Amino acid sequence: MNILIIGSGGREHALAWKIKQSTHCNQLYVAPGNAGSSTIAQNVSIDVEDFNQLGQFAKDKDIDLIVVGPEGALVKGIRDYFEADPTLNKILMVGPGKSGARLEGSKDFSKQFMVRNGIPTGKAETFVASQLNEAYTYLDSIQPPVVLKADGLAAGKGVVISPTVAEAKNVIREMLEEKKFGEASAKVLIEEFLDGIELSVFVMTDGKNYAILPEAKDYKRIGEKDTGPNTGGMGAVSPVVFADAVFMKKVEEKVIKPTIAGLSKENIPYKGFVFIGLMNINGEPFVIEYNARMGDPETQVVLPRIDADFVELLVATAKGELTSKPVPQKKEVAMTVVMVAEGYPGGYEKGKVIDGLSKVEDGLVFHAGTKSNGNDVVTNGGRVLAVTGTGATLDEASAAAYKSVSRIQWDGLYFRKDIGEDLKKWASSLS
Ligand code: AMP
Ligand code: GLY
Repeated sequence: MNILIIGSGGREHALAWKIKQSTHCNQLYVAPGNAGSSTIAQNVSIDVEDFNQLGQFAKDKDIDLIVVGPEGALVKGIRDYFEADPTLNKILMVGPGKSGARLEGSKDFSKQFMVRNGIPTGKAETFVASQLNEAYTYLDSIQPPVVLKADGLAAGKGVVISPTVAEAKNVIREMLEEKKFGEASAKVLIEEFLDGIELSVFVMTDGKNYAILPEAKDYKRIGEKDTGPNTGGMGAVSPVVFADAVFMKKVEEKVIKPTIAGLSKENIPYKGFVFIGLMNINGEPFVIEYNARMGDPETQVVLPRIDADFVELLVATAKGELTSKPVPQKKEVAMTVVMVAEGYPGGYEKGKVIDGLSKVEDGLVFHAGTKSNGNDVVTNGGRVLAVTGTGATLDEASAAAYKSVSRIQWDGLYFRKDIGEDLKKWASSLS
């Protein structure tokens, strides 16, 4: 098959790496890709939201399967565009249409969906700018910390957790009246604070059946011990030690099954990934959010643990032929460390030459924000690389990841040195 991956991050490099291993993969393209994906696939310089050009390219190159990485293209309707064109609608695509992508694109929609379908989640109320006074009154009735969520896509910045009601009032005014996140904060949810341990569960679904992929834990804050501002993700680990068989069974029964049944009942066709952000509260799962795509950097630990031909799973998803049987998982632990540019998640410089990539012996180096510049690979984003190590234990996976990280250098690099540490403590407290 000729396969096109859409996106340019570490997630898409990891997708390319896994897809390339399949015997079904003939030509592999990534639009637009990065310096890493160019070593295993052909990069195509087309923007992820330029559907006209993507469609023309897909026709020119006889593309059989498209895997959509980022949410923006899904929420803007890449599937709807391809389905509406008789010369494109035979191409298989993994990624939901606009109606399904609302699970991620509108937090108000996804909250109502959860409530309608009896899926455990935090209680929430939604307010628009004309209801600011009602929002203040509601805030006075709840115990801080207060969780405020912009309804729309806000590049991962739309959730604010305020320690006091007074601060929350100020933030919600900025969101609603001053449009802090543009149209994304035209509606804001005030949500119950869920106090637990977070993890992410990934499902591939064709709208009827589903396949559960390995779960992962993401490290969102920039600073060690989970301090400082949120980022796209500074590292990830899979499997997650506290997601034991009993907990995962609850996730399947209380969250996954009602989610897929809800999509079907509400006539929302869905062929793609569902990324379920969960809080484990005393062994019970509560949904924090849905995403309509895979996670980044979670993909960089999930895919190395899948012991199956990934293209077969992608095709079954896109054709509506999934069978709900477990996806074989490798027993090994995978851990990824994200190396970022100094200043991220605020402003940062680009164009720094990356040294030592060829000195990495056994780690998987997934590129995120990189590009080729002559013979050099240079930084081209905030998150630059995701370096994955694997091993029989978390200690081994961590040692492998950090050994590879230590070989790589550029001017102003930063990474967290404590990825996985909390899980090691958890593991030792269980044993
Ligand atoms: P999101 O942008 O939806 O991924 O949310 C960002 C982060 O905010 C999540 O990963 C959680 O750590 C946190 N968060 C979101 N909703 C809640 C909640 N209801 N209670 C506690 N933390 C939350
Ligand atoms: N790492 C979180 C995300 O991909 O949304």
